[in-house]
Amino acid sequence: MILCHSITELRATIAQRRLSEGGKVAFVPTMGNLHSGHIHLIHEAHKAGNIVVASIFVNPMQFGPNEDLESYPRTLQLDGEKLAEAGCHILFAPSANEIYPQGSDNHTQVCVPELGEELCGAARPGHFTGVTTVVSKLFNIVQPDVALFGQKDFQQLAIIRQMTQDLCLPIEIKGVPTVRGDSGLALSSRNGYLTDEERAKAPRLYQTLVEIRQSIESGESDFDKLCQQAKAQLAEYGFTPDYLSVRRQSDLKPAEAEDSTLVILAAAHLGKARLIDNIAFALDQK
Ligand code: PAF
Repeated sequence: MILCHSITELRATIAQRRLSEGGKVAFVPTMGNLHSGHIHLIHEAHKAGNIVVASIFVNPMQFGPNEDLESYPRTLQLDGEKLAEAGCHILFAPSANEIYPQGSDNHTQVCVPELGEELCGAARPGHFTGVTTVVSKLFNIVQPDVALFGQKDFQQLAIIRQMTQDLCLPIEIKGVPTVRGDSGLALSSRNGYLTDEERAKAPRLYQTLVEIRQSIESGESDFDKLCQQAKAQLAEYGFTPDYLSVRRQSDLKPAEAEDSTLVILAAAHLGKARLIDNIAFALDQK
């Protein structure tokens, strides 16, 4: 695996590889601290293209003032070993100065309105503008044919799809199903913040989503009532729920009783970790 820290070096490396091998560049952007979910994205990238590029960049623009930018785990050496073992060909690991030479505050922004302002966007103002700005920069730098993102970040995936479509970027966006531990807990870099006691409680978030899905599949259509009850239960378990909502998959607008392609999304704090999860499913046509 070739490790590149600068944009120039990365562009030259990809160009050379494209020249010698042709084919498709499949790109997996990450913030590092890699777990099996990321490695699964690399394996899926191998199916999508023959030149697999990953990036590791803890993007300051997507962190709010009181968030975990400083403490976010930086584990480049170990991440590089995992990526090399998974067969990643090129790793781009730029410094903040390489991506934002003038700092990120006055940088041009790429913003997807509406979709980026609710759910996680409401709880983390500016977060998705930070994501879409850095992802559009990474897309311009890497110029992939296909880019892969985990479905755990369902809203992020929807926003990136919208951005790619709106900006006419010639990139196929692939969503990859969430990888879960045996307990059902979605793998996340932020699970590392959980204490042993919290880790034992954390799967309750996914179980809650499963129970809501079962109720809806059994005919319950008062989504607000279901979510309010579930939030109260999560609070009893020690979570501080941020949101819990049943939405339409197509545009993430609140679902109505007649909608059939749904996603239940949740975010909740547990100790120092903010956990997010979702279940997407389709009801038999009514
Ligand atoms: O999902 C992430 O890890 C980040 O939001 C991303 C897409 C790499 C942008 O920084």
